[in-house]
Amino acid sequence: MGLRWAIASVAALVAGASFCAPAQAIVGGVDSTIVNRPYQVALLLGNPNPSGLCGGTIRDSTHIITAAHCVFDNAWTVPGQAIDPGQVTVLAGTAKLSLATQDATAVTASVVGVSFEPAYGFPANDAAILTLDPAHPLPLAPSSAIDALPVVTPAAWQTIEQATALSVSGWGLTTASATGSVSNQLKLATPLQHRSDGTCAAAYGSGYDSLIMICAGNSTRDSCFGDSGGPLVDSSGANPLLVGIVSFGPANACAVQNAPGVYTEVGNASINGYVVIAAPGAAPRNTSGPFLTGTAEVGGVLTCQNGAWSGTPSYQYQFARTTNGSTFALGPMGSAQGYTVQSTDVGGAIACIVKASNADGYGTALSGATGLIPAPVTPAPAPTPAPAPPVQAPTPQQDIAAPVARITAKRCTATRCTLTVTVTDSGFSAGISTVQASVRSTYRTTCTRKGRKVSCTKRRSRSLRATTLSSSSFRVVAAKLPVGTQLFTLVAVDRAGHRQVLPTRVTLKTKRAKKRR
Ligand code: ARG
Repeated sequence: MGLRWAIASVAALVAGASFCAPAQAIVGGVDSTIVNRPYQVALLLGNPNPSGLCGGTIRDSTHIITAAHCVFDNAWTVPGQAIDPGQVTVLAGTAKLSLATQDATAVTASVVGVSFEPAYGFPANDAAILTLDPAHPLPLAPSSAIDALPVVTPAAWQTIEQATALSVSGWGLTTASATGSVSNQLKLATPLQHRSDGTCAAAYGSGYDSLIMICAGNSTRDSCFGDSGGPLVDSSGANPLLVGIVSFGPANACAVQNAPGVYTEVGNASINGYVVIAAPGAAPRNTSGPFLTGTAEVGGVLTCQNGAWSGTPSYQYQFARTTNGSTFALGPMGSAQGYTVQSTDVGGAIACIVKASNADGYGTALSGATGLIPAPVTPAPAPTPAPAPPVQAPTPQQDIAAPVARITAKRCTATRCTLTVTVTDSGFSAGISTVQASVRSTYRTTCTRKGRKVSCTKRRSRSLRATTLSSSSFRVVAAKLPVGTQLFTLVAVDRAGHRQVLPTRVTLKTKRAKKRR
């Protein structure tokens, strides 16, 4: 698709007193006062040293409309998460950004809630609403230079769309080459040419959806990086209206004649229904990572545990297998919280993805992975291949270590061996669930080859049951053993599903009773 939405990132955005005043505008814009665009705000991303910039529109004294990509899953967020509200500062009432040059009417506001269009999937439905601290609402006109901008209704948009008078404003990059720094001075591109849906469809292919996007701008005037989230305004009627949100454009240029700017279509009924929600809440945020429980072996069931989330979301799950660095989805995102390990998973590690959704957006988070799924031990186990150490994302009070079985006593008679096994599980332990044991016997016997009885060596393997003596000790008894060499393999498994990484092995000999010799 080749479209990019990178938000302009700039070091020391506001604190820096010296700002180079670019010769040009937004791209091809003019200087604007805050009186001209009283509803324009800057979103400074990063705290205490902002390094990102987006635009926004004052909807009312405690709500800002912006782009979802400005506040979800970007360089200022944990991957798959909405931004921490403490990382966003709203700067209103000023046409100049830097502290030293700000208008006297400048006000900063802190954000208490980040909501974004629950149907957002970049670049579709690129809309978000920030809720400001209700104890400190923005002072609105007529008592100040700051004012709200009414949002177009879907009904009004039907007629306006045919004869728009568009403009866009922001502090974004000012050159068509999309180089240089953001502008200290608010710039306004007006009139901004409304382009046909066909032009943007030709430029962006399936990335452009004409039902929910507006195409505008040309080689002389366009929005650019850093303007995202800002207002596309229609002034064809008696009062200006918010009709669009700066969303995306070509990958690394602006003001490209055949690749105009793309704006979220606020007059689309479903997007409109979202942006006018009176009291939006906040998108779910992960506070403690998801994790897997269960048995990581073929036939075992792994359960994806949600971890902890804010925003009382509902959950969906997806499982994935990683083998030699490549990851394969084991099905679509869905409601099934459990996954039965398949034989095709042998040699791979399994992890799950939790998607937590509410009316204000969603978040996704990945669990730690299991150890490598071993080849099944029964009925005739090849010696269990040594699994790689499990990769685990540590979470408080989560059992992250694989247990280890140690043989503390061993004794054999002619046909029976008894092992006493003590299991240790370092760190927080969910408890030991079992010790998987098997024995491979190597013994001399007689075979029939080509009709003749000859002496030969045979092997046979079988799995053994471990009986629990206490929470950490187990007994393994192998009876009816053939006289010969007995190789015992032990793998401890804990209740979090972690399997011992390197199996414990011991070789014992069973001897014929003396009197029979
Ligand atoms: N996505 C950009 C941002 O985050 C806005 C890009 C707009 N590009 C354009 N050619 N109109 O700031």
